[in-house]
Amino acid sequence: MPVPVQMTAMEISAPGAPEVLRPVTRAVPLPTQGEVLIRVVYAGVNRPDALQRAGSYNPPAGASDLPGLECSGYIAALGPGVSEWAVGDPVCALLPGGGYAEYAVCPAAHVIRVPKWLDLKTAGCLPETCFTVWSNVVMRGGLKAGERFLVHGGSSGIGTTAIQIARALGARVFATAGSAEKCAAIEALGATAINYRLGDFVKVLQAEGGADLILDMVGGSYVARNIKALADDGRLVFIAFLEGAKAEINFAQVMMRRLTVTGSTLRPQSDAAKAAIARQLRDHVWPMLESGRLRVIHDSEFPLTEAARAHARMESSAHIGKIVLRVG
Ligand SMILES: NC(=O)c1ccc[n+]([C@@H]2O[C@H](COP(=O)([O-])OP(=O)(O)OC[C@H]3O[C@@H](n4cnc5c(N)ncnc54)[C@H](OP(=O)(O)O)[C@@H]3O)[C@@H](O)[C@H]2O)c1
Repeated sequence: MPVPVQMTAMEISAPGAPEVLRPVTRAVPLPTQGEVLIRVVYAGVNRPDALQRAGSYNPPAGASDLPGLECSGYIAALGPGVSEWAVGDPVCALLPGGGYAEYAVCPAAHVIRVPKWLDLKTAGCLPETCFTVWSNVVMRGGLKAGERFLVHGGSSGIGTTAIQIARALGARVFATAGSAEKCAAIEALGATAINYRLGDFVKVLQAEGGADLILDMVGGSYVARNIKALADDGRLVFIAFLEGAKAEINFAQVMMRRLTVTGSTLRPQSDAAKAAIARQLRDHVWPMLESGRLRVIHDSEFPLTEAARAHARMESSAHIGKIVLRVG
């Protein structure tokens, strides 16, 4: 299929509410050295997209100003120096931005093949959550079989993925969520659900001997409570601060109980760091998908031009699992 000169994309017309997402016609981007051009079929929606739209998460230098951190589709063109891909290959990719469009460019090393057993809709929901979960839970957090793992926001795209990957690794998994329906979805994935409106995750984990690893996206009042919920030598990994990034903690606890407090964000990391995570996903996470130990929990699908509705659903927090845009 020849690559057109122009494409439809969803642009952030000004920082603000979901309605600031507007369809526009843009030039199809050209892949530069080491990059590929992807004809996008599905684009996953992630909470960082909503933060970018609201004006509180700017794209890194050199990245597209269009939202969209992941997509699936077909290789449409190769930049100079790319030999490992061919036009027409079905792929999914971690993007620095620009996924809410008919075509997107990204480094060839951030692309993962979509095998025959994986559909493009599912594949379009994988990169952002799998890169984030694997790099923070396994590469940074060092989760091992038999350990107790707690993830907050257990019904989120990140949470549902973290629960399943941790289970596949042989961990005992606990997850928090804010409703009975979300807790039922978490239990169906094999985790012990804690409804944070009814119960206290600190008490639940302490009764079990403490968490060896906590993946937190809430911050705020959860920071000190996470410290209390950790076992000796426990690790606390932050990936977001939905409730705020400032908190008071007793660092004597960190010292006396040999705790590790760390965290990361994916987007500003180097191309080489992202390529290293992509290789680990191919080797360790794709087999989990093939065997059915990991699946995407699909919440809802919207056409690209209705991205505002997708963002409104995400910000309602009514969703369970992944929201995706149908592009091509
Ligand atoms: N560090 C990184 O590289 C990285 C990469 C991707 C995503 N993230 C972050 O990871 C988090 C999950 O991402 P996602 O795309 O999976 O988002 P998502 O599906 O919207 O998940 C967010 C969930 O957090 C829960 N939550 C708890 N406290 C909250 C609060 N104060 N405000 C809003 N929600 C709250 C909500 O569930 P309840 O109703 O149960 O509260 C909500 O479903 C986001 O914060 C995102 O920014 C970080």
